[in-house]
Amino acid sequence: MDSSERPVTMEKVTSLCKRRGFVYQSSEIYGGLASCWDYGPLGIALKRNITEAWWRDSIVTRDDMVGLDTAILMHPRVWEASGHVEGFSDPLVDCKSCKQRFRADQLTSERCPECGGELTEARQFNLMFRTFMGPVEDTASTVYLRPETAQGIFVNFENVLHSSRQKIPFGIGQIGKSFRNEITPGNFLFRTREFEQMEIEFFVKPGEDEKWHAYWKAERFAWYQRYGIRPERLRLREHTRDELAHYAKGCADIEYEFPFGWSELEGIANRGDFDLRRHAETSGKDLSYFDEETRERFIPYVIEPSAGVGRPLLAFLVDAYDEDVAEGEERVVLRLDPRLAPIKVAIFPLLRKAGQPEKALAIRDVLRQDFTVAYDQAGSIGRRYRRQDEIGTPFGVTVDHQTMHDDTVTLRDRDSMQQVRLPIERLVAELQGRLKGPLAGDRAAGGGS
Ligand code: GAP
Repeated sequence: MDSSERPVTMEKVTSLCKRRGFVYQSSEIYGGLASCWDYGPLGIALKRNITEAWWRDSIVTRDDMVGLDTAILMHPRVWEASGHVEGFSDPLVDCKSCKQRFRADQLTSERCPECGGELTEARQFNLMFRTFMGPVEDTASTVYLRPETAQGIFVNFENVLHSSRQKIPFGIGQIGKSFRNEITPGNFLFRTREFEQMEIEFFVKPGEDEKWHAYWKAERFAWYQRYGIRPERLRLREHTRDELAHYAKGCADIEYEFPFGWSELEGIANRGDFDLRRHAETSGKDLSYFDEETRERFIPYVIEPSAGVGRPLLAFLVDAYDEDVAEGEERVVLRLDPRLAPIKVAIFPLLRKAGQPEKALAIRDVLRQDFTVAYDQAGSIGRRYRRQDEIGTPFGVTVDHQTMHDDTVTLRDRDSMQQVRLPIERLVAELQGRLKGPLAGDRAAGGGS
């Protein structure tokens, strides 16, 4: 299917998100706050499933990775060393007529794209949010909300090295909030001023960096496909030399074809020794590594796979969105990978009498021990299936007349809509089997030493 035939549009996804409780606008009753979003009951479940999948695959199942959770507020000198105070800025222009602001590097004409008015000269606008620590508001107490989680990892390199007894090559992963005062946020969750990142800083011996860069590009590209993103809507785009960030030796973006075009989900950069070297120089601490085997001392190079959470979440939603005809009725269905689906199984009594609700509730209580479960007895069974299809629930269990005689239920699959009958006592094992996805065995080859 080419993109023009896709049923999904951004309007359909944002409306589904609001209607069903995935994402709401922040502070909506006050008119909302631009580009800030709140995750509702289903949104937080989906977000947690994505971050847990990343954490499990990137850290828990690997010997060469450890996790970290660092403070959002850091010593202001961190941002001097990292280059953010000096260089983390975008060129800003104002329209002299309508007063709107734009990023100069995103404009295609010299006039205002909204009203055609004259634009000011471009000036650099630093994207870091500033605040004050303590009761005095002066330059001495200025601190920043971190614009990336990465620096919390670099400044703890030594701590982790000594306390976890890791040897190079090894990596540190972190999930957390970052903040950027973007000039032009937009496209729903895609570009926001407050967002979450899932970042890995992988420390390697200089000279082995190219090999590890190739490894992480392949590994991260495979990860999105492992959780259901269609390969034809993913691509890896190498940065041109003039696109590279100030710290990068090389970088590739994993891009997804959103309804608004191909856009970045994750960047995988080779940061060389830029960060550790700068922090060593600025702090006066020795951040070199001594290799016991080769008796060499060096500043490690860093490979950085850096993803957001909101962007992948939006890509998973957009990619899963489908419309078809089920049992003679049009339906919206989210074909989410079952491991990411907010609710794994819904339980329905066919009738609201004859002991069926009590039986269904008893099954719900058992399944709840292992899965996120929804119970629904309102409306026709077809409507109840539709409600679950629309939020991506992969399995439905129906209690009917026969259940009351022989303790069997039907198990319905969201995508094929096929139903099988099975004994209640086999339900947990059956669902566990169906929820198991491909394991780490299909990881990208290479890199590892
Ligand atoms: N430490 C490197 C770094 O932060 P980046 O390319 O600026 O690199 C990495 O950001 C990822 O963080 C992006 O690929 C994107 O998924 C996410 N991201 C960055 N800015 C964002 C924003 N304003 N809104 C949502 N996600 C953002």
